Amino acid sequence: MNATTRCIPETEIGARFRQARRKTLALCAPLTPEDMMVQSTPEASPAKWHLAHTAWFFESFILREFMPGYRLFNTDFPWLFNSYYQNLGPFPAKRLRASFSRPGLDEVLHYREHVDEAIDRFLDRNPEPEALKRIELGVNHEEQHQELLLTDILHAFFTNPLRPVYLEQPPEEEVPFPKSKKQAPARQALGFQAFEGGLHDIGHDGQGFCFDNEQPRHRVWLEPYSLARQLITCGEFAEFMADGGYRRPEFWLSDGWMAVRRNGWRAPLYWTSESGDWSMFTLRGVQPLARMETAPVSQVSYFEADAYARWAGRRLPTEFEWEAAAKGQAIAGNLLDSGLLRPGPAVETSEGLAQPLEGPTQIFGDCWQWTASAYLGYPGYRPVAGSLGEYNGKFMSGNMVLRGGSCVTPAAHIRATYRNFFSPETRWQFSGIRLAF
Ligand SMILES: [Fe+2]
Repeated sequence: MNATTRCIPETEIGARFRQARRKTLALCAPLTPEDMMVQSTPEASPAKWHLAHTAWFFESFILREFMPGYRLFNTDFPWLFNSYYQNLGPFPAKRLRASFSRPGLDEVLHYREHVDEAIDRFLDRNPEPEALKRIELGVNHEEQHQELLLTDILHAFFTNPLRPVYLEQPPEEEVPFPKSKKQAPARQALGFQAFEGGLHDIGHDGQGFCFDNEQPRHRVWLEPYSLARQLITCGEFAEFMADGGYRRPEFWLSDGWMAVRRNGWRAPLYWTSESGDWSMFTLRGVQPLARMETAPVSQVSYFEADAYARWAGRRLPTEFEWEAAAKGQAIAGNLLDSGLLRPGPAVETSEGLAQPLEGPTQIFGDCWQWTASAYLGYPGYRPVAGSLGEYNGKFMSGNMVLRGGSCVTPAAHIRATYRNFFSPETRWQFSGIRLAF
């Protein structure tokens, strides 16, 4: 969000802004107002809150700071919809977001319209470059919340005994991946690709948008390494489970084993079993393991990813190994734009999805990939000045880095230098496993 050297044309950022704002509403189209109130885990937020908070971001960091005469939609909203910016003053505890029955959905939608119209008027006034950069940041923030909205609604629907379906499976011909086991590609032995070691430039070069945690660009020495060509599949993970993976402490980090015991983990988050047959809950409804066998395993914690790697005699890649391999790859894969809304099998052809014929597949999309790297500032990192310095920097403790985006990440949002981060016990994200050695 800082140190971008280009000046973004108003027309380009205006189009990006309007497209992103429309997309958020489109993602809510399958939801009822009641769905949009649910906060089923402390990590998640209700969809209605996401709608209001993303408007709040544009209001707080652009309109109130840069637009003289801007009129607040509601004088309570600046504190009500603040997420975690201590510099801006007190805000409600996150766990209370499900109690926000007021303002109602209609009022939240009017709030969004009020902010959208103000940003449109502001863009007509030839705003200064810093304000344009803030709008670009706001668009990227909106895209982060699009992903969270879907991640959170999946959890909400999983906790509902009726197991509602967010979107029905599309007709067979529209599915960009094989739909049934019969058509699914045969499982193959996991292949690896070797990479030379050496000195690598890591981090964003400043051309185009990036978050502050992707900079400064710096050099990292890598020993020669190999990366798995594909993500670990549900079928492969089921073998770990069948081999007692969740019952054998020798595969687990100490904190991981404690998490297994404390939480009663015996499978990834959305896996359920009836009479020994596993199924998994997705935004497309319940899918039998038979259909998902070649799709990447998802909703696993760092601890589960690490335990699987130990069981397999491999390890997780560092975020630097991952980035060096991802550099130069096209941003293509099973991202939000594919419309599948769940992880899908790797495909080795360019039909449907442009996966590379050479090199690792599924670099972008399907599942975020846990890395063995702790989330820390790069050498010389400094958060941006002011309240926005709280966006990323204050979370650099106790989190691990994930790379690559997922099936609910907008394609315009992801890049090789992008660093996501969560605590190692986190399971509600679309998070999966790529092995290395
Ligand atoms: Fe936010």
